[in-house]
Amino acid sequence: MGSNAIPPPIVRRKIGRLLTALVVGVLGSAAVLVAPQTSHAAESTLGGAAAQSGRYFGTAIASGRLNDSTYTTIAGREFNSVTAENEMKIDATEPQRGQFNFTAGDRVYNWAVQNGKQVRGHTLAWHSQQPGWMQSLSGSALRQAMTNHINGVMGHYKGKIAQWDVVNEAFADGTSGARRDSNLQRSGNDWIEVAFRTARAADPAAKLCYNDYNVENWTWAKTQAMYAMVRDFKQRGVPIDCVGFQSHFNSDSPYNSNFRTTLQSFAALGVDVAITELDIQGASATTYANVTNDCLAVPRCLGITVWGVRDTDSWRPEHSPLLFNGDGSKKPAYTSVLNALNAASPAPSPGSGQIKGVGSGRCLDVPGASTTDGTQVNLWDCNNRTNQQWAYTAAGELRVYGNKCLDAAGTGNGTKVQIYSCWGGDNQKWRLNSDGSIVGVQSGLCLDATANGTANGTLIQLYSCSNGSNQRWART
Ligand code: G3I
Repeated sequence: MGSNAIPPPIVRRKIGRLLTALVVGVLGSAAVLVAPQTSHAAESTLGGAAAQSGRYFGTAIASGRLNDSTYTTIAGREFNSVTAENEMKIDATEPQRGQFNFTAGDRVYNWAVQNGKQVRGHTLAWHSQQPGWMQSLSGSALRQAMTNHINGVMGHYKGKIAQWDVVNEAFADGTSGARRDSNLQRSGNDWIEVAFRTARAADPAAKLCYNDYNVENWTWAKTQAMYAMVRDFKQRGVPIDCVGFQSHFNSDSPYNSNFRTTLQSFAALGVDVAITELDIQGASATTYANVTNDCLAVPRCLGITVWGVRDTDSWRPEHSPLLFNGDGSKKPAYTSVLNALNAASPAPSPGSGQIKGVGSGRCLDVPGASTTDGTQVNLWDCNNRTNQQWAYTAAGELRVYGNKCLDAAGTGNGTKVQIYSCWGGDNQKWRLNSDGSIVGVQSGLCLDATANGTANGTLIQLYSCSNGSNQRWART
């Protein structure tokens, strides 16, 4: 067998800042497979500074403002992720039942991609901004319309969206911890998990998020209700990858320093977290830095999106809640965010090497250095030979010998993980998460040392992610 065909490394500051953002956005940060860097220079834009720690810094974009050159100049320069403010919502994308319209959504998407930015999808199932025909539906007809909508929109953008807000704002405000009353909720309590299962099948490469507001304060009932739902989903194998915290902070819903506890607690359930619609009434530079540092403190915090560019672009312009003044000048909060991002620890870059089990101290190994398709991988003493060298590609493959891929032979618990000739399938793509888990893109299940085994010969399988030491991996 020959030496590995390792793809060119992504060198963030020279050629790959945007590519890194894309790879990280779509595939998760690659902390486990990378060599640490020791220092980095200060970056001069929010996106560039966030990319240094493997994150993105994004904004909501309104298609109607793309003709405003002050707006596009700032947005193009500063941000490396984009969320369509309204253009991918239900009323915009399916104005008549079964008739999809992606004109405005594509305008935002194309602007983002042409300017080197990743895209967050927002949003597929929501009580608000439903077109009239959907508002009048209920029960099984509404359920069918919801799944058709998810399939239609996710099908159009298949493989192009880093994260989708699959379900938005399903919990009630206040102290009840209950679901919000809506036609979707009245269609049956399982509407959320049905939405997520539909979404996984529609685009297995997208991270699937639940997104809500007033869920940043760890002590609030709404936060705890959302936490219980995500924990339940993870326990039962409902496919959820991330939780979006909208983070609209204002005098009724102020920032609280326990936000970091909230982010950490959700991440510990085995999901990524993201700050998805940040704005802060009055734009305190201190509060903006606190929020930024809360994300930076949590390895599974993927990035931050602010909900608009200038104060005049905000849905709440009277709050002056954003990072740029109406004339396009930078506010003090801009500088505090940039400085916080620049002070963060650098993220490692993808590469090739051994993959060592945290619990076993042994390496992911192809038994007998076999090159036969279907050979199940196992744990073995790390020895640096070619059958233990795994190259993580930009497509999300883990390649050994150059042309064989780590391959899941199915999608259920206990599925054998083997080597197989690379062919580009989703069963050969993996998300490398900064908590050390390696998640199959097709299955959403984790690379797992069977039965918590640690000995030579322990077979590797897929299993529901538990964050156990037999599911955490590191580069040696
Ligand atoms: O474009 C029409 C315009 O032609 C018309 O004359 C005008 C009359 O009111 O309405 C305009 O559309 C408005 C649209 O924003 C574009 O500006 C809608 O009325 C208005 O309802 C809509 O508001 C959006 C709001 O979601 C609707 O729920 C805001 O832009 C958008 O920022 C906001 O975003 C939400 C997130 O999706 C979810 N989280 C909360 C966040 C803030 O409310």
